[in-house]
Amino acid sequence: MKIASIVGARPQFVKQAPLSRLLRKKHQEIIIHTGQHYDDNMSKIFFSELKIPEPDYNLGVGSSSHARQTAEIMTRLEPVLEKEKPDLVIVLGDTNTTAAGALTAAKMGIKTAHIEAGMRSFDRSMPEELNRIVADHLSDLLLCPTKEAMKNLKNEGLGKKASLTGDIMIDAIKEFLAIAEKKSGILKNLKLESKGYLLATIHRASNTDNMENLKSIMSAFAESREKIIFPMHPRTRKFIEKYGLLNKIKKPEIQIVEPLGYFDMLILEKNAKKILTDSGGVQKEAYFFKVPCITLRENTEWVETVKDGWNTLAGTNRKKILDAARNFNPKGKQSEDYGGGKASRKILEAIESL
Ligand code: UD1
Ligand code: UDP
Repeated sequence: MKIASIVGARPQFVKQAPLSRLLRKKHQEIIIHTGQHYDDNMSKIFFSELKIPEPDYNLGVGSSSHARQTAEIMTRLEPVLEKEKPDLVIVLGDTNTTAAGALTAAKMGIKTAHIEAGMRSFDRSMPEELNRIVADHLSDLLLCPTKEAMKNLKNEGLGKKASLTGDIMIDAIKEFLAIAEKKSGILKNLKLESKGYLLATIHRASNTDNMENLKSIMSAFAESREKIIFPMHPRTRKFIEKYGLLNKIKKPEIQIVEPLGYFDMLILEKNAKKILTDSGGVQKEAYFFKVPCITLRENTEWVETVKDGWNTLAGTNRKKILDAARNFNPKGKQSEDYGGGKASRKILEAIESL
């Protein structure tokens, strides 16, 4: 088969690494990078660390409003798909790249597979929720990381197209953790003791673009008196500067760093005392490493992590965040292994039987 994988944003690069490796053993794959993320530390570093093959195309769409970015991806993608005539398009996750990729391929009558299908927060104010719904309803093959995702798709009348494969991000951790342990010097560079710091990431629009929410989260960080390592997403930096919140977190305990490569991030996650995040991927990685996760959202798609007690939804409330940072200490068993690292193989099987 000739398969076109469409990627564009940081979490998609992580998922792409194990996928490309497996696809290329038996099929011809081309990678189309939409250019949604373009800074070296949001894109290039993942290709080099995870040895993802160089994209065959970079559409260079860059940043803009949702409609413009989505439309630009579609406009630039169509001629590439026209020329390459793949048998299958693969889209991953829930970004504008995902929705635009699925919409373009479906309109061209090209078979489409969606990896990380069926995830739902049931919160349609999130751009990601809209992207997931669009991608799922347009794709021919829905590759689900969890049973919950299968259930969601069944409820939407999409059960026949769905396969339970597990989560490809777990494949990535299993493949790269040992290498990260060898190559990352982040604990030494930042002079950190294992379990001696909290790790924080935020980038969801509802947290960054809304001044009250961002201020409340920053206040909680500032008041926690814990050492916090805060790799700052470019979106977050933009709004922290815009709202004049940098002073609030200028404290010796809070260490702001640039977005990190995957190896440094895995090592920081594994050794963190707790993780505070609004990222989907980081919530799962926290669960994998059995590090207590405080989610700075009111809901999550990764419901197993909450049901098992390893993740708590603190939202943006300063007091709730502080309380969780001090007192949230889960210990229970974990019910979900997210496919245990075998997702890419199952994805390949499902694709081959399409
Ligand atoms: C996007 C996804 C989100 C995903 C996240 C992963 C959408 C709607 N959102 O959010 O689901 O969780 O990626 O990180 O697709 N910027 C840079 N350099 C870059 C990329 C972005 O400076 O390389 C800045 C720009 O100011 C841009 C802003 O970040 O406007 C937001 O980027 P964008 O890709 O629109 O959304 P993310 O917040 O990254
Ligand atoms: N990540 C990283 N460096 C960072 C922040 C995140 O390598 O500074 C990795 C993280 O380990 C995970 C993925 O990026 O594998 C998650 O991406 P992100 O949080 O941007 O998006 P989401 O998962 O919320 O869509």
